[in-house]
Amino acid sequence: MSDIQSSLAKTFDSFISQKVNSISPSGVRKFFELLSSAEEVVSLGIGEPDFVTPWHIREAATRSLQQGYTMYTSNYGLIELREELAKYLELHYGLSYDPQSEILITVGTSEGLDLALRATLNPGDEVIIPDPCYVAYSPCIILAGGVPVMVPTSRENDFIIKASDIEPRLTKRTKIILIGYPSNPTGAVMSKEELNKIAELARQYDLLVISDEIYARLVYGVEHTCFASLPGMKEQTILLGGFSKTYAMTGWRIGYAVANSQFIEAMVRIHQYTMLCAPIMAQAAAIEALKSGESDIEMMVKEYDKRRRVMVKGMNDIGLPCFEPKGAFYTFPSIENAGMTSEEFSEKLLMEEKVAVIPGSAFGQCGEGFVRCSYATPLTNIQEALKRMGRFVNKYRKS
Ligand SMILES: Cc1ncc(COP(=O)(O)O)c(C=O)c1O
Repeated sequence: MSDIQSSLAKTFDSFISQKVNSISPSGVRKFFELLSSAEEVVSLGIGEPDFVTPWHIREAATRSLQQGYTMYTSNYGLIELREELAKYLELHYGLSYDPQSEILITVGTSEGLDLALRATLNPGDEVIIPDPCYVAYSPCIILAGGVPVMVPTSRENDFIIKASDIEPRLTKRTKIILIGYPSNPTGAVMSKEELNKIAELARQYDLLVISDEIYARLVYGVEHTCFASLPGMKEQTILLGGFSKTYAMTGWRIGYAVANSQFIEAMVRIHQYTMLCAPIMAQAAAIEALKSGESDIEMMVKEYDKRRRVMVKGMNDIGLPCFEPKGAFYTFPSIENAGMTSEEFSEKLLMEEKVAVIPGSAFGQCGEGFVRCSYATPLTNIQEALKRMGRFVNKYRKS
């Protein structure tokens, strides 16, 4: 950089807010930038379904456009969509929410997360999160003025966040427990028993729970327990969900937040001035997804499950011990045998064998020693990646 360039960079730096300066760029994005410069890569780095949105859902959006639905909707979202969601939550979890006041349609689960945090946090309030966890949790908490408090999870406990590990980290400033399950990056699913213990803490210490259940429908051989369905938790939970993963709709940017009307009203106060509403064509597509998308979910889950089994066995066979994830579409094998950090492992693997995985450290300190491998990619890619990774592990295996 020349002297002029560096002094210009310094000047621009002073315009950037301290909050933004305090958050680091996503380790996942950093890795994708590296990836874009490499060729013939088999990628297990993907965090989105490899399926295209089912045709009937796309058709519903096209039809709504043809009929001229191109306007803003209510800030809360189309009432028909909220009514469908209310039916869905009743059917799957026996939960009864008022579509008029307790359901908000958001621009992806991402917006729901941001709104939930900004609507509730005062400067310095602490938010409990699992380590490792989804890359957006910590930055979103900081941007909302809060303080993330990481609770370590480990392979020994199948990466479950345990109430007994949360309790010693509670302080007078703790306001929220933010959990996400099935988990990105580990694929861990919370048992009802463990969730009940967290609910007990929430009751005892009067904490709000934000439960990110975007992967709720992608579970294999286990049942998903919705946090809000636990005794007494409906009033104390902001439930976040979305269409991105369940219906292969990442590009549509549509999700929802469900909670007591006071929380929803507070979130709408931000949403009305920032997003106004989620895109109307995406809302039309989401109505169709809820009405007739069950068989699509079934088909995709069956396919993910097949790939999951191949990947878990394959990782264990090549010397990357891998606990069995029961949800989402990620495996989180240990790379201990290779004797390098997860970032070194991922970079070397990409350069030498052209396989992309995400370093576990991108998801928190406790992710170190692991890599995230997605099976949202065809079986042939998984098999090829395993072959290349096997070669790589053999080369670097600690004797
Ligand atoms: C745990 C988790 N929450 C939220 C999101 C964001 O999803 P959306 O596309 O609905 O904004 C993701 C995306 O990867 C995720 O993994």
